Amino acid sequence: MATIALPLPPVSLPTLQPHATDTVVNCYDVLDLCPAGGVHDFTDGKYLDHRNDRAAYLAAQSRQADYLLDQLDCRPGERILDIGCGYGRILQQAQERELSAIGITISPTQAAENQRHELNTLVLNYRDIPHQRQQLPGRVHGIVANGSLEHFAQLEDALAGRVNDVYSELFQIARSLLRPGERFVTTAIHLAEVGQADPQAIRQTHRAWPRGSFNYHYANLVEAFGGWYPEPGQLERCAQGEFTLVAEEDGTHDYFLTSEYWLRQLKWSLVTKPRVWWALGKKWLHAPRALNDMLRCLWRDQSWNWQFRGENPPMRLYRQTWQAV
Ligand SMILES: C[S@@+](CC[C@H](N)C(=O)[O-])C[C@H]1O[C@@H](n2cnc3c(N)ncnc32)[C@H](O)[C@@H]1O
Repeated sequence: MATIALPLPPVSLPTLQPHATDTVVNCYDVLDLCPAGGVHDFTDGKYLDHRNDRAAYLAAQSRQADYLLDQLDCRPGERILDIGCGYGRILQQAQERELSAIGITISPTQAAENQRHELNTLVLNYRDIPHQRQQLPGRVHGIVANGSLEHFAQLEDALAGRVNDVYSELFQIARSLLRPGERFVTTAIHLAEVGQADPQAIRQTHRAWPRGSFNYHYANLVEAFGGWYPEPGQLERCAQGEFTLVAEEDGTHDYFLTSEYWLRQLKWSLVTKPRVWWALGKKWLHAPRALNDMLRCLWRDQSWNWQFRGENPPMRLYRQTWQAV
C-alpha cells in the first residue's frame, strides 16, 4: 500500500528515557492465548444493566466502540487513528461507519492477525510517531486510545518522577496530528486516589508484601502487564495547552463486569478447549516467565479482578474526551 507523509509541523518533545516496553510486548505475546479462549477484547465494555452472559458482554464491547467513535464525531471518509488497537474491534466498527481507520500496536501478533482480517494495522510505538510519520497514511481527524494508556508510563518513569512528562508528551504527539476542535478519546484505569501507589514499594516486587495487600496486587499487575496508572486529575493537568477535557464518564462498574466475564470465560476455556491447552503449552516453552507472571496475576491471585471489586474499588476507569485547542 502507498503511504503519504503527513504534512504536519515537527513537534518539540521533552527528552525522555526510552520506555521499558519489553514487559508490555511480552504480556501481549502471552495474551495472544485469549482469542483461542473466546476473548478478543482487552478493555471494558459499556453495559446497560447487570446481565453478564456472552451476549451481554459482546453487546457491551460493541457499545463501547460506538461510544468512542461517537465522541470523535468524524464524518464518513475521515480517518481515525487507534493507538493500541488490540485485535481491532474499533477499526472494524469504524470501517462499518465508512471511516478510514488505522491502528497501531506494539504487538506483532495482533498486527498480523488484524492484517489477516484486512484491518490496517502497524507495529508502531506511539512515541515513535514524530520520527516515523511517513508510516501513517494521510491526515488523521480523530484519535482513540482505548485501554492502552495504562502502559505508556512505566515503573521506571514513576521512580524517576517523570510520569507527567510521559503524559504531556502523549498529548503533544496527539495534538500534533489534529486540528483545533478535533478530538482524542481515551479510556484508562486510574489509581483511585492521588499518592495511593509508592513506586519505591512496588519496585520491591509482590514478594515483599502480604498477599492480598494493595502493594502485593499492584506489584503483580506492574510485573505482569508493564505500566503505571495515572492518578485522578493527572491527565487533565498534562493535557493543558494542548487539549480541553470535554466529556468524562466513570466506567469502573463496567470494567468490573467485563473482568468477571473474562475470568469465567478463560477458566471455562482452560478446562474445556484443547486449542487453549496447546496454545498454553507453546507459551510455556517460549515465554515461561511472562506466562507465570500472567497466570499468577489473572488466575491465582486475581489481581486483575481485585482492581474493580468491592464497594470502594482500588482503581477507577475513566472514559475521557479531549478536544484539541
Ligand atoms: C489493553 S490492550 C487494548 C487493546 C484494544 N484497544 C482493546 O480494547 O481490545 C492495550 C493495547 O495497547 C497497545 N500498546 C501498549 N503500549 C503501546 C505503545 N507504546 N504504542 C502503541 N501501542 C501500545 C498494546 O499492543 C495493545 O494493543
